[in-house]
Amino acid sequence: MEHFRILIQKALQPLLGMELKLTDLETPPDRARGDLAFPCFRLSKLLGKAPPVIATDLAGTLAPALLASGIQVEAAGPYLNFRIKAQALIEHVLVPLVKAGTNFGSSAKDSREKWVFEYSSPNVAKPFQIYHLRTTIVGATLARIARHRGFQVTTINHLGDWGTQYGKLAIALKRYESELPKDITLKTLVDIYVRIHKDMETDPTIETASQDAFRKLEAGDPEMRKIWKMCVDISLKEFQKTYDRYQVTFDHFWGESHYEDQLKPLLSRLKSEGILVEDQGAQVVHVTSRDGKEIPPCILEKSDGASIYATRDVAAALYRYEKFHFDRMSYIVGKEQKLHFEQVFGTLRAMKLDWEPRCEHIATGLYRFKDAKMSTRKGNFITLEEVNDLCTAKSLELMRARNASEDTREEARLSDAEINTISEQVAIGALVFADLSTDPSKDLEFDVDRVISFEGETGPYLQYAHTRCLSILRRAKAAGFSATSADTKELMETLVKPEESALIGTLARFSEALERTLDQRKPSQLASYLIDVTKDFGHFYRECKVMNPENPALTRARLALVEASRNVLSLGLDLLGMPKPEKM
Ligand code: ARG
Repeated sequence: MEHFRILIQKALQPLLGMELKLTDLETPPDRARGDLAFPCFRLSKLLGKAPPVIATDLAGTLAPALLASGIQVEAAGPYLNFRIKAQALIEHVLVPLVKAGTNFGSSAKDSREKWVFEYSSPNVAKPFQIYHLRTTIVGATLARIARHRGFQVTTINHLGDWGTQYGKLAIALKRYESELPKDITLKTLVDIYVRIHKDMETDPTIETASQDAFRKLEAGDPEMRKIWKMCVDISLKEFQKTYDRYQVTFDHFWGESHYEDQLKPLLSRLKSEGILVEDQGAQVVHVTSRDGKEIPPCILEKSDGASIYATRDVAAALYRYEKFHFDRMSYIVGKEQKLHFEQVFGTLRAMKLDWEPRCEHIATGLYRFKDAKMSTRKGNFITLEEVNDLCTAKSLELMRARNASEDTREEARLSDAEINTISEQVAIGALVFADLSTDPSKDLEFDVDRVISFEGETGPYLQYAHTRCLSILRRAKAAGFSATSADTKELMETLVKPEESALIGTLARFSEALERTLDQRKPSQLASYLIDVTKDFGHFYRECKVMNPENPALTRARLALVEASRNVLSLGLDLLGMPKPEKM
């Protein structure tokens, strides 16, 4: 649509006597009204006329020039509605889309602002919680899309690898040393952490010993360092498996410990600026929220002299700004940390750092489970592994049933090995899609039967549409047809059915869907766009037979449309981080 927005802008701008941005052209909620719209309310004051009168006047003036570019314009009440003619869509959307492949919708690399994304950030020596999956994939998706759209993106994992809990772990490792297995795994660490907490109820000396141990760690004690390093390495190895499985990457693993040598200098700086003050034995900065409201102070040093979570976040922000001079920095973190980020940003503001408004907390909601076993526990305390297992079991059951069904053609039956691989891909795709198709700020109602279904707005539904494109293209190739051989003229003459035009019109909105996703910080925008593509593809596939041996021109043209759909679905699935099974 970008091409057409620019044409309309060029024609409309000189008639308005005011600046017209590309984004001033809206997408009508109801597509029957047109592809783009311009509301005339704003002009009313300027021109001293009622909006519907302005719309009618403008439509009259614009019509001839725009029509020559394939754009019909009409006034509808206070709106100017624009409709792109099917032929123009074919020339400016379908043809480039078939040619560009998966580069479609990308902007020149690194042509836009510097954008830092921080996401995932699980805590070392604790299992990966489902809660962290949400921030992980929302962040990774936004970062991927931003990169695709030309932002200069940097991604960071702020691992929770520092804090008093390492004192406790060190004490626990010593205390239970004789009972530990030879290979200490993440599970071992989790178990002894739970156990030491139990023991603490009856033995108060553990608390003080742990505090001592952490103080030693902060002071650089070599033995404590060794223990700490071991815990971090064990955990990272485990986390990496999850990241591989979910196709998530980071430019930097800079955990909380990364800023450790910057904490004392930070405190001195705050002190000399006169904003660090004592409050009940602790060192704090008094802060307000962005809208000027009084909020609890940001504690930066506890009464025992230890640094805390917020200290490391303030240091991290300073460090990252020094390094990247970012235009934006987005923290994708659960909504229960809203106050924490207000305090951190409030501290940056108290320090008079003019870049503070560039930082934002993208707050994510929780998972809620329908499954009885899980619904009684708080969403945060369910491990990703448990949810993974649930999804994989369900997907395996579904795939087996499909495969055994009488409706499945003999030659389409899958081997056991294929079923295993595909079930895993379907399970991951389903979970990722369920998560990303929900508004990230809202809680997510997780119902495994609904999530893993081939019907409805699910991950498998999208994956299946992509697989279907692949199989059509495979069969066409075997029959000697190429999906990229039709020329523009042939496409214009052949693709005239409403289902074909509707699908092309939807494919044309891909870049807009990506921009909307970034503007709103909601991968759910891209997810719902891909559902639209899948639905329109379904209508097209039902109504328009692709392989027509008696009519090669029609076959070639429809194959081009299948190829274009495949490109959008494939790139869309990649951007969401969903696996793409070859067969299903
Ligand atoms: N490790 C934290 C947790 O699991 C999340 C870290 C979020 N990022 C930050 N810069 N504070 O709750």
